[in-house]
Amino acid sequence: MADIDRYRPEDRRAVEALYRRVFGNDAAEASRLRWDWQYHHNPNNPGQEPEIWIAREGRAIVGQYATMPVQLLVRNQEVQGSWGMDVMVAPERQRQGLGEVLFRTWDRNVGASLGLGLSDSSYRLFQKLRWPDVGPVPCLVKPLTRRALRRPTWPVPINRLVSALTLPIIKIVSRTRPLRAEVRLIQRFDDRFTSLWNELAPKFDLAVRRDAPYLNWKYVSSPHVRYSIAALRRDDRNIGYAVYRHLHEPRGRVTLLVDFLADPDDEGALSTLLHWVDREARQANSDKIRTFALHAGFRRILRRTGYFVVKSTMEFVVKVNAVDVDPAFYEDPDRWHVTLGDSDQDR
Ligand SMILES: CC(C)(COP(=O)(O)OP(=O)(O)OC[C@H]1O[C@@H](n2cnc3c(N)ncnc32)[C@H](O)[C@@H]1OP(=O)(O)O)[C@@H](O)C(=O)NCCC(=O)NCCS
Repeated sequence: MADIDRYRPEDRRAVEALYRRVFGNDAAEASRLRWDWQYHHNPNNPGQEPEIWIAREGRAIVGQYATMPVQLLVRNQEVQGSWGMDVMVAPERQRQGLGEVLFRTWDRNVGASLGLGLSDSSYRLFQKLRWPDVGPVPCLVKPLTRRALRRPTWPVPINRLVSALTLPIIKIVSRTRPLRAEVRLIQRFDDRFTSLWNELAPKFDLAVRRDAPYLNWKYVSSPHVRYSIAALRRDDRNIGYAVYRHLHEPRGRVTLLVDFLADPDDEGALSTLLHWVDREARQANSDKIRTFALHAGFRRILRRTGYFVVKSTMEFVVKVNAVDVDPAFYEDPDRWHVTLGDSDQDR
């Protein structure tokens, strides 16, 4: 049986070769470009060492579990959380129990083990190991143009008919609204965002600590994507932020609202940020805006601002080890804040 221990710097080439075999060349190249940022520069890495477990057979590397340490807030207590991300086992060694040993080793060493947007095989393994399954993080879409509802699987006349029928609704949903507070684009998150997080944290039962060092690492210094960051200010105080980017997809142009924060009880705050993102999306010629939100209060505001809930495939599992939570905790995620910005979903 393989031995499991921590990653060492001399493992890098063998891990890259295994990654290429399991995930293919494109994914391996993309991972190589992100690697230093993702594993060395994370401000929550204890001792700046990558939080990666390696499965070895003699001198060969046959598996890894690469993770992202975060400070996780669980009912007002901070625990050392860890997003499981790039887990892999050599193809010839799969279905022999190695994945299970890697999952359990990771879980034993962290205060909470979390998984988001899982592959079919890892989702099934989480289920087999009975990780609490919160279900998918709801996905919401706001249509901005009649192209937003196009489906590549529908014939052209159907697409045209749907566009024509829904156009009046889209015009109402996407109309421009005045902003009720000051919004400005920023280049970095300053310490006042840490204060904002400390102030809002008690409003969430579970969320990654969104302090300034984490936010700058995640959204300012990421080498693979460029984000726009909007800060919301009222009476000279920062009261929220939104992180977003625009991209082309086969079905059209999309603005992704990747992460956001505001007081969930202050409807005016989040809706002002959302109206700002609407304007930005329209300027970028996006057909729609897409976001993911687990918090029921945020989802309510999103729906009132013209977003519709659509099918989500972003599965979410979490197991809290460091503090006692009863099984009912996992059944009520209405006050949990999880978005597309969490883990390494946006890549
Ligand atoms: C996910 C992975 C690491 C699991 O490792 P493993 O050594 O095969 O896992 P184990 O042998 O300990 O456990 C096997 C269980 O995992 C699940 N599983 C693993 N591979 C699966 C597959 N191809 N299809 C469906 N379920 C699968 C099943 O629950 C399986 O139980 P079963 O054999 O009783 O049906 C491995 O399948 C892998 O490298 N997959 C490709 C990379 C990947 O998808 N990574 C996850 C990114 S989120």
